[in-house]
Amino acid sequence: MHTFVRKCLILAVLAVLKVCSIDVSDNFMRVEVINGKLDGSTVSVRLNNTIEYLIHYPESTTHNPYRIRVWSKEALPSDPILVVVHQENKVLSWEVPLKQPIGKHDEVYFRNTSRTLCHIAMKNLSSLSKTDLMKHEQNESFSQQFLATITTQSDATIDAHIEAIEELNFHVKLNVNYSMTITCSESRYVYYKFDESTEAVLIQITSPDDVCLAISVQDSYCPVFDLNQDIKYEGKYLSMTRKGAMTVTRNEFDEGFSWSSLPNLVITSVAKKLKGC
Ligand SMILES: *[C@@H]1O[C@H](CO)[C@@H](O)[C@H](O)[C@H]1NC(C)=O
Ligand SMILES: *[C@@H]1O[C@H](CO)[C@@H](O)[C@H](O)[C@H]1NC(C)=O
Ligand SMILES: *[C@@H]1O[C@H](CO)[C@@H](O)[C@H](O)[C@H]1NC(C)=O
Ligand SMILES: *[C@@H]1O[C@H](CO)[C@@H](O)[C@H](O)[C@H]1NC(C)=O
Ligand SMILES: *[C@@H]1O[C@H](CO)[C@@H](O)[C@H](O)[C@H]1NC(C)=O
Repeated sequence: MHTFVRKCLILAVLAVLKVCSIDVSDNFMRVEVINGKLDGSTVSVRLNNTIEYLIHYPESTTHNPYRIRVWSKEALPSDPILVVVHQENKVLSWEVPLKQPIGKHDEVYFRNTSRTLCHIAMKNLSSLSKTDLMKHEQNESFSQQFLATITTQSDATIDAHIEAIEELNFHVKLNVNYSMTITCSESRYVYYKFDESTEAVLIQITSPDDVCLAISVQDSYCPVFDLNQDIKYEGKYLSMTRKGAMTVTRNEFDEGFSWSSLPNLVITSVAKKLKGC
């Protein structure tokens, strides 16, 4: 019937990204360095305002980006944990628990958070043809590295847990049904590269519940706008509940691609509001 793509992206999030003015170079703060692993294993620490944990992750050469999950059972909204992830020339930061406004007066806090880091070698990835990209999952030119710091202003000692996981289904293919779990504090995005014979793709999204999803399709630059407050900045945007679809043509994403002759796109899903859209 159509030569379009079928995809199932259950997307997204509303996260509030806040850069806090906590002075991590405070003289009273002791810094503890921990070697993290990229296999999803959890680093669990206990912290208060006298200690900063710096988790150092090894270099990787995969074509997928990494996802950082952080949660805490004891952190209070009044004294949150501040997570800062440093990549070569980028910084991503957020608080745990993560505050999500609902309407004008209410807010909800989420203890489980996760963010996908922008792949630092996106430019190198996009310069390969779709076939080459899928064939070679590792390449020296895909090298990326990051470290994370965890701090709090809390006097009381609280728990914090952090994991780094490779985002395995990042490079999406045509006619494959992808399933993802998304919450208000855990948005997601995936990457699609047009091959030379495809002029347009249809992105189809289904969701089993009535919670609103926000979906945006953006050029594959960093940063990816995947937060409640910035998702509409770039590209095409859609909000939906149970079913949504969007057609994207090569031409739309040709513009502004000074560094690539082939159009690429990032399919970003941002997430759910608790009430209404
Ligand atoms: C603060 O946390 C550190 C590391 O967990 C711990 O050694 C220290 O005893 C804590 N300080 C207080 C006052 O609880
Ligand atoms: C939060 O994460 C923990 C640890 O992975 C998990 O056990 C729990 O079910 C999660 N809670 C929610 C609401 O997703
Ligand atoms: C991109 O590839 C070039 C050539 O292999 C390499 O010198 C450069 O460091 C790579 N860029 C990144 C961000 O990895
Ligand atoms: C690695 O990536 C570079 C471009 O960034 C490409 O020229 C080279 O062929 C790739 N190597 C492999 C084995 O795919
Ligand atoms: C994709 O998978 C989901 C969950 O398994 C299913 O409900 C849905 O019907 C599938 N969609 C398509 C288009 O195959």
